Amino acid sequence: MELFIRSKHFKMIRPSFIILVVFALSGIPVIESRHRPSPKPKTSIEYSALNCRKHRAVLTEFGAVGDGKTSNTKAFRDAISTLRPMAADGGVQLIVPPGKWLTGSFNLTSHFTLFIQKGATLLASQDESEYPVVAPLPSYGRGRDAPGPRFASLISGSNLTDVIITGNNGTIDGQGKYWWVKFKSGGFKSITRPYLIEIIFSQNVQISDVTLIDSPSWNIHPVYCENVIVKGVTILAPIDSPNTDGIDPDSCTNTLIEDCYVVSGDDCIAVKSGWDQYGIKIAMPTQQLSIRRLTCISPDSAGVALGSEMSGGIKDVRIEDITLIQTQSAIRIKTAVGRGGYVKDIFARRITMKTMKYVFWMSGAYNQHPDDKWDPKALPVVQNINYRDMMAENVTIAARLEGI
Ligand SMILES: *[C@@H]1O[C@H](CO)[C@@H](O)[C@H](O)[C@H]1NC(C)=O
Ligand SMILES: *[C@@H]1O[C@H](CO)[C@@H](O)[C@H](O)[C@H]1NC(C)=O
Ligand SMILES: *[C@@H]1O[C@H](CO)[C@@H](O)[C@H](O)[C@H]1NC(C)=O
Ligand SMILES: *[C@@H]1O[C@H](CO)[C@@H](O)[C@H](O)[C@H]1NC(C)=O
Repeated sequence: MELFIRSKHFKMIRPSFIILVVFALSGIPVIESRHRPSPKPKTSIEYSALNCRKHRAVLTEFGAVGDGKTSNTKAFRDAISTLRPMAADGGVQLIVPPGKWLTGSFNLTSHFTLFIQKGATLLASQDESEYPVVAPLPSYGRGRDAPGPRFASLISGSNLTDVIITGNNGTIDGQGKYWWVKFKSGGFKSITRPYLIEIIFSQNVQISDVTLIDSPSWNIHPVYCENVIVKGVTILAPIDSPNTDGIDPDSCTNTLIEDCYVVSGDDCIAVKSGWDQYGIKIAMPTQQLSIRRLTCISPDSAGVALGSEMSGGIKDVRIEDITLIQTQSAIRIKTAVGRGGYVKDIFARRITMKTMKYVFWMSGAYNQHPDDKWDPKALPVVQNINYRDMMAENVTIAARLEGI
């Protein structure tokens, strides 16, 4: 499988049809008056075919019970520990057969496929003790809900190579209601809610052909990764559920998101790269990102948000063939004083919108900070934002552009 991010497609367009929007926040020395050529494509990604793993096991071999009530956390952890030593010898696959498999958090391994069959549902435990508490991410300095550590994500992986979560549209059900209710009543004062899937410091990651429902918070969070594909994923959460972002590529290089359908209570895609002084210090941008053929419904949020945590920079993003229905805004740039970093070389085209509050929205005063140590001199740069072939129907406000 290959991911090409090509700039030449954008040169075939007649110039009169290009809407070029160049923003510079706050008048700092970043004002750009001309279109810059988009960067040359740097890499493509290729990796070995799917489902050619030499060793495989079925979850039930480890004592799992698919009755929706019995905890299978130990079965998942044991299965992966048993497979791990064989992974270097041609790869390993764990098959989740039809049934309802209640589980807490578990860690993936390298050269590994988690295959969720049709009719199989992983049910995320609502018992907090089933989620180890892990350190905050270095580019955030704290959890997103509260100062302090985080509950590990339901499916976690770190420092991995070649990891796949797929199936014939099997389901991962976050059973988020417990977490949403507690969050809304201010119950997470020191530990942040788990995400459904979080992959950290990894290469060659694929998440495809699965349905994710009712995540406690963000759904898919690849962070500090390279070569990530998210494809054919359906993500569903109530439109009033808190922070149920669809897919959050965060400080990742070379990511392809395609053919996904997202209905959620927060941004369908939220592109990130760390928060204020923590993100500036880690300095890992999200770059070479392609998002295409996405359908999104999110009445209180964006189709694609760039930020607000963008302190490591966001650049070289292609957003194409997107359908947005009853979504607050199409592409929203969110930033603030203290973020530093940049959002630049963004190319969006062929976006079809029905019933939108805003088509274009940029907010320079998204003033959520991790603590009071942010640098008031750390001003974000926003430049070379290109939109064309935007078709919108039933729009309240065409554009809202706010600086700092
Ligand atoms: C998963 O790995 C992390 C370290 O990356 C560790 O803190 C956590 O306890 C592990 N979880 C389990 C269930 O072993
Ligand atoms: C994971 O990778 C990061 C970045 O290379 C490194 O700093 C960290 O020590 C690694 N963690 C483990 C458990 O190997
Ligand atoms: C996968 O399942 C979801 C939820 O039932 C459904 O909405 C979606 O259309 C299915 N996708 C495919 C490709 O069958
Ligand atoms: C137009 O948008 C408004 C909300 O702004 C909505 O109430 C109305 O149903 C929409 N009309 C159509 C024809 O979709």
